[in-house]
Amino acid sequence: MKTQYYTATSLDGFIATEDDSVDWLFPLGDPEETSYPEFIAAVGALAMGSATYEWLLRNVDKVAEQTGSAWPYSQPVWVFTSRELPRFAGADLRFVQGDVRPVHAAMAKAAGGKNLWVVGGGELAGQFFDAGLLDEIIVQVGSVTLGKGEPLFPRRHTNPPLRLVSVRQIGASFAELRYDVVRA
Ligand SMILES: NC(=O)c1ccc[n+]([C@@H]2O[C@H](COP(=O)([O-])OP(=O)(O)OC[C@H]3O[C@@H](n4cnc5c(N)ncnc54)[C@H](OP(=O)(O)O)[C@@H]3O)[C@@H](O)[C@H]2O)c1
Repeated sequence: MKTQYYTATSLDGFIATEDDSVDWLFPLGDPEETSYPEFIAAVGALAMGSATYEWLLRNVDKVAEQTGSAWPYSQPVWVFTSRELPRFAGADLRFVQGDVRPVHAAMAKAAGGKNLWVVGGGELAGQFFDAGLLDEIIVQVGSVTLGKGEPLFPRRHTNPPLRLVSVRQIGASFAELRYDVVRA
């Protein structure tokens, strides 16, 4: 079982524009032609921040167009928030806040040996990293720049560096980079 931060990013390191748009991402390629189908098949539980969850709530049509379903996950999802948020009908959701460690333990229990996906954003992935719980960072680097926006991974992490495990070209618009997190 691995805990993975798997996300798409612009070349200059942003996962969304400053107003939470990922419209730049869709023209770059079909998720079905990336590593996503294989990746999601091995995932047993997901964690995401409230901005990511609210994006899913606001964009059910786009999500359905891309994935064939308004709510795209069959696995249980933990949503981090300090607020009361609407519940997506039919989704397997838990709203949580604070320390990521007990949430990680609950996710691992639910996942039954499958991987745990930290969907994002970058700050939440950073919280799993800070707690020593992140094993892999897998990024699809899109061939666009955004100038500013929501950062991929707002941490200064220099030593020991991440270990680059693989590099793969996906069409003309993505480079997929896989990194192992090396513990100090
Ligand atoms: N490019 C991609 O593949 C990709 C992947 C994922 C997400 N996205 C997009 O990127 C944007 C991410 O935005 P974001 O970085 O602002 O992130 P986010 O992680 O989705 O949401 C951040 C919010 O989550 C809540 N939160 C985070 N940690 C918490 C904790 N420990 N306890 C309680 N609440 C906590 C806080 O909100 P409250 O307490 O106020 O609720 C915080 O403001 C979204 O637009 C999303 O759709 C893109």
